[in-house]
Amino acid sequence: MMKKTLTLNTNDAHPLINDQKLSALEPRLRAAHQSLLEGTCAGSDFLGWLRWASQDHRQLIRNIREAADKIRAQAQVLVVIGIGGSHLGGQAGLEFVQGVHYNELTSNTKVYFAGHNLSASSWREIIELIGSQDFAINVISKSGTTLEPALAFGFFENILVNRYGRTQADRRICATTDANSGLLHDQAVAHNWMRLVVPDDIGGRYSALTSVGLLPWAVAGIDIEAALAGAQKAQADFLSDLSLNNLTWRYAAARYLLLQAGKNIEALVTYEPRARLFGRWWQQLFGESEGKCERVIFPTTLELTQDLHSLGQYLQQGQKFIFETTLYFDHNPGDELICLDQESSQAWPFLIGKTVDFVQNQARAATQKAHLAGGVPNLQLTISDHSATSLGYLLYFFELSCALSALLLDVNPFDQPGVQAYKTEMMNLLQSSH
Ligand code: PA5
Repeated sequence: MMKKTLTLNTNDAHPLINDQKLSALEPRLRAAHQSLLEGTCAGSDFLGWLRWASQDHRQLIRNIREAADKIRAQAQVLVVIGIGGSHLGGQAGLEFVQGVHYNELTSNTKVYFAGHNLSASSWREIIELIGSQDFAINVISKSGTTLEPALAFGFFENILVNRYGRTQADRRICATTDANSGLLHDQAVAHNWMRLVVPDDIGGRYSALTSVGLLPWAVAGIDIEAALAGAQKAQADFLSDLSLNNLTWRYAAARYLLLQAGKNIEALVTYEPRARLFGRWWQQLFGESEGKCERVIFPTTLELTQDLHSLGQYLQQGQKFIFETTLYFDHNPGDELICLDQESSQAWPFLIGKTVDFVQNQARAATQKAHLAGGVPNLQLTISDHSATSLGYLLYFFELSCALSALLLDVNPFDQPGVQAYKTEMMNLLQSSH
């Protein structure tokens, strides 16, 4: 039998999750799923991601490759500017596939991310990283009016123009934005920049598999067709399966049941630094999709084993409102690495000849056991590897799970009305200081 790309184990959440409780939720899961399929759910104008991966993207891939080739031919550094859904998926995907030290290890164009903060020191660091290297910019904003990326773009565009002159600078900018309107769209048309589109019916946090993520990945040498193929496989596995065998149903239901049992915080646990930002993407997906009433899960992330030496204490003996979802990779680059050989250790004789991977597996099993005893249930998601295909698969799995999970809570998964509050206050302050 072919090995599955993804599995979900809920044994360490028993008896809070059991077959009887899952079956009781089946009619509601079915209704939520049907409403997605039929486009009758809340926020149904933003369902473009649902069948995105199975569309014919040959032209899109050609456009992205063309833009990526142009960027790589003229720049040793690409500065990708965006925030929220216009940032996290791109950087998370890049690190997931290429690792956190991608820029130090690559001979390809380096990719740095900006526009997701208001930190002058971080902008300065990017200027230093660029140094005298040739660079280009990919500015990403669906609305074209978000303050943080607009400021960062203005800043780096200015450097680009000072260095290359207006005409040459224009050849080094790619704008990923709305197809027809918006400030950024209009600027891009006026200056004849390379242009890629964020589809109207796909919201920021569901857009990683559009040009938003695909261009930075292509520049970094990631196989974007494989990423889309992975998502397409997930769509085939999950979209037409209206049963409790569907892993998206089981994950959404598990979250729902744990919340009902008072587990208000979900920590996505990874043992791989390359998946840390993927956790941030997941956090935005669930936090921004569900966080619209008080009785919803707060999503957070833990990077183990380092957090066992800090928050591990809280998990073991603190408040019992947390559950963990461990994202485990079946195969990792370096799985074969041996920790200690005969020569190097007298102190750990039982580990001589063992791989780091073996030790990680024992640490994971031990942690799950200890935390369960401490009242922290655990869900385990196992993905086969860090490939672009697995990335696409996992992105789609979480997107569909998240939509179902929000609909189970009667929450619109696709809007973010609360984000406006800080923007309004900030604009008031900024304008009154004028
Ligand atoms: O998920 C979302 O919709 C948000 O996080 C947006 O992506 C974020 O606010 C950035 O918006 P924009 O792409 O319009 O600049």
